[in-house]
Amino acid sequence: MMAETRLPVEASACGKVILLGEHAVVYGRPALAVPVCGLRARARAEPLPPGSGCWIEALDTGERLRLSEAPPDHPLAMAVRLALEHLALPEPDLRLVLRSELPIASGLGSGAAVSAALVRGIFRWSGQSPDPELVSALVYEVEKRHHGTPSGIDNTVIAYERPLRFVRGQPPVFLSIARPFTLVIADSGIPSPTRETVATVRMAWEREPDRYERLFDAIAALVREAEACLASGRIEDLGPLLDTNHQLLRELGVSSPALDHLTRIAREAGAMGAKLTGGGRGGHLIALVPPEQAEPVARALQAAGARATYRTEIPATLSMESPLRR
Ligand code: MEV
Repeated sequence: MMAETRLPVEASACGKVILLGEHAVVYGRPALAVPVCGLRARARAEPLPPGSGCWIEALDTGERLRLSEAPPDHPLAMAVRLALEHLALPEPDLRLVLRSELPIASGLGSGAAVSAALVRGIFRWSGQSPDPELVSALVYEVEKRHHGTPSGIDNTVIAYERPLRFVRGQPPVFLSIARPFTLVIADSGIPSPTRETVATVRMAWEREPDRYERLFDAIAALVREAEACLASGRIEDLGPLLDTNHQLLRELGVSSPALDHLTRIAREAGAMGAKLTGGGRGGHLIALVPPEQAEPVARALQAAGARATYRTEIPATLSMESPLRR
């Protein structure tokens, strides 16, 4: 039974950062990701008079489109259509208003967050609340169309909104985190679509498969060590692992002078470790900081050219569990 509401409803989805393991995760290695709960994409569904059709308005980009006229692969329309199809609903008379605090093409999962907010908005409007597994699966369909060969990590961490270890094609495992930790996230100000960096790595891997496989294995070993550090509360040991992961990402060819410079600045200002996060080349970096160093590190990064900085706390968790075993 559908219970479509005549009142506006709101839904949102968080951003994400990859702690360790980006790019290698596309090639079957594990990666760790955490939600950034304070930076969100929001969708508001407002019922329209009968016959109006379904309209999507993205306030940040000024885009306005009618669902029935949008190209089949338009990412916003795709997310809405997939949710409606799943619910077996025809095009509704609805205005979907989107706004997002997540910068586009910058490693924080903006695309997946916007899709997840739209999917949740449609479900909520229809009186249903989808479980994270379903949100993740629907958003992954949009990701596949727009990011070439995505591993699925973005849609997964955003849908579950919990720190997790992800291996492509497997259910996520929630991380056990014995002590909370603080990250400063900084925007290099250089947009960098993930699709492009993933494609660059693929070409390089095809040219030099052995070298790239060795780099991916080295990253996987760091991920396993990092997971053990988090589980035992050895946060200070995590810093050098982030630094080494950044170095390996440089060797993969996805860093840039700006990211190398900003990660160095973060370390000099008191970060325990720092690395690029997401696709690289531009986008964001993360710095692991003692809480009292968050301010000085953020100030140093801004003085060195970071366009914006954002502080996020990752809380401790109680136990490790797999969502499919719940
Ligand atoms: C993007 O957030 C992370 C990458 O590993 C791509 C992917 O996993 O799909 C670069």
